[in-house]
Formats: sequence, structure tokens, C-alpha cells
Amino acid sequence: MPSPAGRSAKDFFRPLAVGAPEPLREIPARPSRAIHFFDPSNPKMAAKVPQLTGTVDVLLGNLEDAVRADNKVAARESLVQIASSTSGLGGPDGSAQLWTRINSLDSPWVLDDLTRLIPAIGDKLDVVMVPKVQGAEDIAYVDRLLAQLEAKAGLDRPILVHAILETARGVANVEEICGASPRMQGLSLGPADLAADRRMKTTRVGGGHPGYLVRQDPTTTSDGVLGQERPTYQQDLWHYTIARMVDACAMHGIYPYYGPFGDISDPLACEDQFRNAFLLGCVGAWSLHPSQIEIANRVFSPSVEDIRHARRVVAALNRQGGDGTGAVMLDGKMEDDASLKQCLVLVELAEQLAA
Ligand code: GLV
Ligand code: MG
Repeated sequence: MPSPAGRSAKDFFRPLAVGAPEPLREIPARPSRAIHFFDPSNPKMAAKVPQLTGTVDVLLGNLEDAVRADNKVAARESLVQIASSTSGLGGPDGSAQLWTRINSLDSPWVLDDLTRLIPAIGDKLDVVMVPKVQGAEDIAYVDRLLAQLEAKAGLDRPILVHAILETARGVANVEEICGASPRMQGLSLGPADLAADRRMKTTRVGGGHPGYLVRQDPTTTSDGVLGQERPTYQQDLWHYTIARMVDACAMHGIYPYYGPFGDISDPLACEDQFRNAFLLGCVGAWSLHPSQIEIANRVFSPSVEDIRHARRVVAALNRQGGDGTGAVMLDGKMEDDASLKQCLVLVELAEQLAA
């Protein structure tokens, strides 16, 4: 797979030690725990951008859903203005990456989004997020257009592409989407559009649902009397899709993300949803309100205890022979080549975030 030109060697993943799992292919290993969405045409949100650059990994100027049709041009122009005038935003040296979510490929706005943004702020734009991707052909179209616009603008740093998984067809084609271009940076789950496309009977933007339950089996006493207590347990609506997305991303060496959690007033449930995604392999999530940035930064960073434990396992296995093979007992648990690999994932992530 060709590597995006113009990156320095330190921007790329390296395996840490013998026995580490396959590194992601050579896409920039820049932290992107929170992808913070702002509507560039909303003056209140736009005003917050400069102060957010030091606190968030990614700022994303949203041009698609949630931006009114009669505001599309204003949002695009305002994004150009914000990107040009905000120091520390976007480009190889930016403290926060700059992404944009363009309009969908079947909309009347997307061509103008790309032809306006790339010549004007292509040197700042790190990633273009493409919504409602259905298959590899959508990525091929964006890839070709970006290549033409980059060449015309004389840009030598390729803009990467991120796809939102939010249609049933997109989910069916997830592996080919991930491998459709060397520009592919990652995928996000889009639970709101996906729910609608699947004709799910929900009305929320991500998260759980109080009706999606399993009920505990009835208990009987020794006299054969049925117990009254039948607790129910809420289930995760998104487990299947996240797991499928994570596998496809891992197979192609790109990054998986949970998408939006719409109930800003419920930070606890947001944290739970983000943590499930982190444990399943995601590297980040969207933030729709500044309060969700802190949640994502915390949840998508390994905890001090996890890093400490991971380092102990690595040290214990390296002590015996130093090549990461074999087995040791630590705190009564067996650790071997496979647990070493899991621990290296956490240690590698901690090092990346600390760099
Ligand atoms: C995001 O775009 C979603 O549809 O959930
Ligand atoms: Mg959507």
C-alpha cells in the first residue's frame, strides 16, 4: 500500500517489540479520541473554535446534516474563513486536526464543497469525512476528485478520507469500503441514519433504548412457586455493527470510531456507549457538545491502572527470554504471547497519546 507522501517517519505507526500485533498500515498515528463537530455558519460555535484547538484532537467543520439547506453556502464559506484565520488548526503542525464532513454524494452541494475547500484550505484539511457511503465506488469517486484538486492546487500532502457507515448497503460492503483507497483513514458508525435506513423503530441519535431488553428466566422455589422478581437487562443496539466495523478496519489497517451520542444531558450513558466502543477496538467518537470532549478524551485513553498492568506483563514476558514467547504466571493468571500482544496494544496507544 503506498504511503501518503509528505509525512515524516515519526507520523507513522511502528511496531513496539517482537510479538506486537500488526501495526496499522502507514496512516498518520495522530490521536483522534474526540472528533468535535461544529457548524461553521453558527456564530456561537464558530467563536469557540480557537479556544478548543488546545483541548481536542480533531475539530470538524460540519457541512452536512444539521446544517440547514439555505445555510450550506454560508457554512462552507465560514469554514474557509475559520481554517485560514485560526492558528494551531489543521495541517501537519496543527495542535488540533481539521476535518470536514462534506455533503452526501447524492446531494447538490458536494461538488461545490470539494472544489471550494481544497484550493482554499487544502493545506490545512487533514481528513474529509464522507457521509452515507454505500460502497467502494463512492470512495473511488472522492479519491479521484481529491487527486485532481490536490494536483491543481499544488498540494503535496494527501488529504485522507473517512467514511460514515450509516446505510444497510454500506454495512454490507464495509470491507470493500475500508480497502477502497490508500487515503482511507477510518470509519465512523452513524447510528441515526443507519437506524432509519434499517427501519429500526427508534427515534434517538445513538445509545441504548429502554425497550431493547432481555428478561431473566422465571425462578421457582422448592415448592414450585413462581418467583415474582423478573429483572430485565437493557441490551446494546450497536454491538453487531461496531464489531463488524472494527473487524473490517483492523483487516485493512484503518481506524474505527463510534459516531454521535445525541443526548447531551446524559453524560453517564454517553460515557458507557463510548467505553463499550473503546473496549471493542474503537479509537474515538464524535463530540456534539464541548462537554463530550472531556468524556471522549478520558474514555479513549487507557487508564493508568491498565497501562501499569500492561507494562508488568510485557516486563514479565521479556524477562524470560526477551522474545515475547512462552508463558508466565502473574497474580495467579497465565500470561502468554497473546496476552502480551493485547498489552502492547495498550502500551502503544499510551505512548502515542503521550508523544
Ligand atoms: C450520523 O451522521 C448519524 O446519522 O448518526
Ligand atoms: Mg448521518
